[in-house]
Amino acid sequence: MPTSPDAMQSDTSSIHAVDPEALRAEIRVKYAEVARNPDGPFHFHTGRPLAAKLGYPTSICESLPDSAVASFAGVDNPFAVRQIPVGSHVLDLGSGGGFDCFVAAGLVGATGKVIGVDMTPEMLDRASREAAALGLRNVEFRAGILERLPIDDQWADVVISNGVLNLVADKVLALEEAYRVLRPGGVLQFADIAVGGKVPEAARCDIELWTDCIAGGLSVDEWTDAIAAAGFGSVAVGLPTDSFGGAAGESRARHYGVFGHTFQAVKE
Ligand SMILES: C[S@@+](CC[C@H](N)C(=O)[O-])C[C@H]1O[C@@H](n2cnc3c(N)ncnc32)[C@H](O)[C@@H]1O
Repeated sequence: MPTSPDAMQSDTSSIHAVDPEALRAEIRVKYAEVARNPDGPFHFHTGRPLAAKLGYPTSICESLPDSAVASFAGVDNPFAVRQIPVGSHVLDLGSGGGFDCFVAAGLVGATGKVIGVDMTPEMLDRASREAAALGLRNVEFRAGILERLPIDDQWADVVISNGVLNLVADKVLALEEAYRVLRPGGVLQFADIAVGGKVPEAARCDIELWTDCIAGGLSVDEWTDAIAAAGFGSVAVGLPTDSFGGAAGESRARHYGVFGHTFQAVKE
């Protein structure tokens, strides 16, 4: 009998404070709600106000309808790191409602291709409906988990992600998957949160703090080490972004010194 992705255990998952399968189940519940009711009472910002706060160009945001932006729940702007070339194959890890895939689709043009992978059915439904409504023929959404991507070896020129790897218990495993699907010379450019110091053990075991994008973050140095451990070189980290400022989760973010950052690395 085939093993379900969620039943898969990684070699390194045992070192993490939360059970990866239980974490994924809770994340699906939370992000199904972000897909269904994006203006709901979340601890993080969503939608157009968030995209503006994170510096996405107004022209790009205005070119998309509300429904394509509403479920955006990123933490920084992975496109700010480096211009994605026309014609690229781009993979978005944890594509959510699809906003970053729609942005990438405009950058790569008709000769490029964008694939978004996510594990929450409501997010995939929402993103696929929007892509069809927008008439985007170069975007596809696939169900899957970051720990075992449904993507061929060396398919991608660029791997992006926004606010997702912090939600994965085994970050090195997910980063190794990103490495596998990138071609040699391909670029990983993602946004995620970093914590200012050590998150106490009790907080690291609190799944709700993980799903709110707080407890699963690494420090900048730990992120750098994890990216290098997965095989990448030329790791660069962007300046901190106050992703949670003004959101309901601001005080908790301040407590743990949580800020968004961009990360760039190359499969050398
Ligand atoms: C904070 S949202 C960010 C979504 C999107 N990147 C954005 O910026 O709007 C996190 C997304 O990651 C997905 N996700 C979290 N862990 C995942 C995993 N292990 N595998 C696949 N998707 C995952 C969730 O389903 C959710 O849609």
